[in-house]
Amino acid sequence: MTTETPEIPPETPPEVPVDETTSWRGLAEVDADEAAERMTAGTLGGGSKRLLRELLAPYKRAIQVLIGIVVLENAARLAIPYLVKEGIDTGIPPIREHDDLEPLLVIVGIVLVATITQALARQLFLVRSGQIGQDILFEIRRRVFRHFQALSPAFHDGYTSGRVISRQTSDVDAIYEMLETGFDGLVTAALTLVGTAGLLLFLDVKLGLVALTCGPFLAWLTMWFRRESAKSYKVTREKVALVIVHFVESMGGIRAVQAFRREPRNQEIFDDVNDQYRRANLVAFRLVAWFMPGIRLIGNVTIGVVLLYGGYRAYHGDVTVGVLAAFLLYLRQFFEPMMEISQFYNTFQSASAALDKLAGVLDEEPSVPEPTDPVELSGGVGGELRFDHVAFEYVAGRPVLPDLDLTVPAGQTLALVGTTGAGKTTLAKLATRFYDPTAGRVLLDGTDLRDLRTDDLRDAVVMVTQENYLFSGTIADNIRFGRPDATFDEVVAATTALGAHDFISAMPDGYDTDVANSGGRLSAGQRQLVAFARAFLADPAVLILDEATSSLDVPSERLVQQALRTVLAGRTAVIIAHRLSTVEIADRVLVMEHGRIVEDGAPADLVAGGGGRYSELHEAWLESLA
Ligand SMILES: Nc1ncnc2c1ncn2[C@@H]1O[C@H](COP(=O)(O)OP(=O)(O)O)[C@@H](O)[C@H]1O
Ligand SMILES: [Mg+2]
Repeated sequence: MTTETPEIPPETPPEVPVDETTSWRGLAEVDADEAAERMTAGTLGGGSKRLLRELLAPYKRAIQVLIGIVVLENAARLAIPYLVKEGIDTGIPPIREHDDLEPLLVIVGIVLVATITQALARQLFLVRSGQIGQDILFEIRRRVFRHFQALSPAFHDGYTSGRVISRQTSDVDAIYEMLETGFDGLVTAALTLVGTAGLLLFLDVKLGLVALTCGPFLAWLTMWFRRESAKSYKVTREKVALVIVHFVESMGGIRAVQAFRREPRNQEIFDDVNDQYRRANLVAFRLVAWFMPGIRLIGNVTIGVVLLYGGYRAYHGDVTVGVLAAFLLYLRQFFEPMMEISQFYNTFQSASAALDKLAGVLDEEPSVPEPTDPVELSGGVGGELRFDHVAFEYVAGRPVLPDLDLTVPAGQTLALVGTTGAGKTTLAKLATRFYDPTAGRVLLDGTDLRDLRTDDLRDAVVMVTQENYLFSGTIADNIRFGRPDATFDEVVAATTALGAHDFISAMPDGYDTDVANSGGRLSAGQRQLVAFARAFLADPAVLILDEATSSLDVPSERLVQQALRTVLAGRTAVIIAHRLSTVEIADRVLVMEHGRIVEDGAPADLVAGGGGRYSELHEAWLESLA
C-alpha cells in the first residue's frame, strides 16, 4: 500500500509534548504489551483473577442458578431435533397404518413445551444476569472511586486523570460486555458442542463419527483465528491509542497549535496514525472474513457428507429417515456458536486487559498510610513546624532534599525563595504529608506527621497552590469546601478580608453563581482569590502558599498582600513566591538552592548584609521597579 504521507515507523509515537497538563494522554495509555502477553495466553493475571473471584463471590448461588437456567434452555433447544426424529419415525407410521394422529400430536405437544421452556428460560436468564451484571459493575465503580480517593497525592502525581477516567469508563464497559455476552456465549457454545456431539453419537455411532470428523478442522481453524486475532487485537489497540493521543493532545494544546501554525504538521501526523489504525482494522476484518466463511464451509461440507453417507445408509435401511433429519438439524445449529466464539474472544481480551488494569489500581496501597496508633494533638495546634534532618527523593538515587534541618516557630511567617527546581514545592508537600520523607522526620508541634490522623493533619495544615480547582456548584459552596458548616457571614468575612467580595457580588447571581455556567467563569486570578478564601475559612494552624499569588495581577496581589497580614496573624505560614513583593511581609526569608538552604534571616538583614543571593534578587527587583 503506498501513501504520500511520510512514513513514520510504527514504533515511534507521534511527536507530542508530554507534560503534566496534558493528562488526558492517559486516556490512550499504551499498556497493551504486558496485557497482550496474557491475552495470547488467554488467561488472567493473578490480581485480576482474585478481583474477579471477589466480585463474583456474593453471587455464587445466583450464578449456579443461572447456569442451571442456561442448561435448561439448551436442553430444550437440543431436544427439538430429537423430537423431529421421533415425529418422523414414530409419529407418521400410525397415521399411515390406522389413521391414528395421536402419537404425532403428542410429539408436537412436547415440541411446543420445549419451545416455550426455551423462551421462558431465556427471559429469566436475561433478567437475572442483567441484574447481577449491573450489581457487579456498580460495585466495581464504587470500589474504584473509593480507592482512587484513598490513594496518596503521590499516586495521583503519577497517575494521570486520563487514566483515572478510563479506569472508570472504558474498563468498566469492557467488563460489562464480557458479563453481558461472554458468559452466555461461552456456556451456550460449550453446551452445544458437548451436547450435540453426545446426541449424534447416541443417535447413530457410525454416522456420528463421520459427522465429527469435522472436529479437527474446526479446532485448527479456531486456534489459528485465536492466535492471529490476539496479535491483531494488540496492534489495533496500539494504533487506536496513537490516534487518541494525537487527537487529544492536538486539541488540548489547540491554542499553541494555532499560535505556532502547527496545523499542517499535526494533520500530517494525524493522517498517518489514522491510516495505520485503518490498516490494522483491515487486518482484523480479514481474519474474520476468513474465519466465518471457513466455519460455514466446514459445516456445509459436513452436512453434505452426512447427507450422502446417511442417505446411502437410509436407503439400505441402516438408519431411519428421522435420524437423518435429526442429524441435519443438529449440524445446522452446531456451527453457529463456533462463529459466536470468535466475537466473544475479542470481548474476553478487552475484559481481561481491563480487569488487569483495575486490579492493578485496586492493589495500590496509599504510600502515606494512616497511623495504626495515632497521637492526639492535645490542647489545640500551636503550629510549630520542624524538619528534622529530612532527606527526600522522588526517584531512588536522585535526592531532591539531601538534608534539610529547619524549625519554623509557631506563628512565624516564612518566605521561601529560590530558583525553579530548588525543592520548594517538595518541601511544601512534605509539610502537608503528600509524601513521607526518605529519611528524617517532619514534625508538627513535636509530633511526627506519620503519627497524626490524616483528618487532624488536614485540619491543621492547609496548602494553597496555583492549581485552584473549582468544583461544580456555587461560588459560596466552593469557598465552604473545607468547612461546609460555615455561615454566609463567615464566607463574606473571608472574601472581604481578601478583597474578593466586590467581584463576587458583581457576578450574575453573586455568591450563588454557578461556576460551571459560562456566566460563572472566573479568571485565573479570581479563582485564586476563591481558593484563598477557601483556605482562610478553613482556618488552619499552618498555611502554606505555593506560588499562590502568581496568577494575580499586580493590584490584586497588592490587595491580597494587605489581606495576608490579617489572614496570617496567629498562624504559621510558609509562603513560596517568585515576586519579592510577597516576601516583604515575612518575618524570615529562606533562600533555597538545589535542595539546600543557602540563606536564612530577616528580609531586612539579608538585604543589609549585601552580597548574598537574596540581596542580589532584591536589587534586581528594585531595578525592575524603577
Ligand atoms: N513527582 C516528581 N517526580 C520526580 N521528580 C520530581 C517530582 N516533582 C518534582 N521533582 C523534581 O524535584 C526537584 C524539585 O522540584 P520542586 O520541589 O517542584 O521545585 P520548586 O518548587 O522549587 O520549583 C526538581 O528537580 C523536580 O524535577
Ligand atoms: Mg514549585
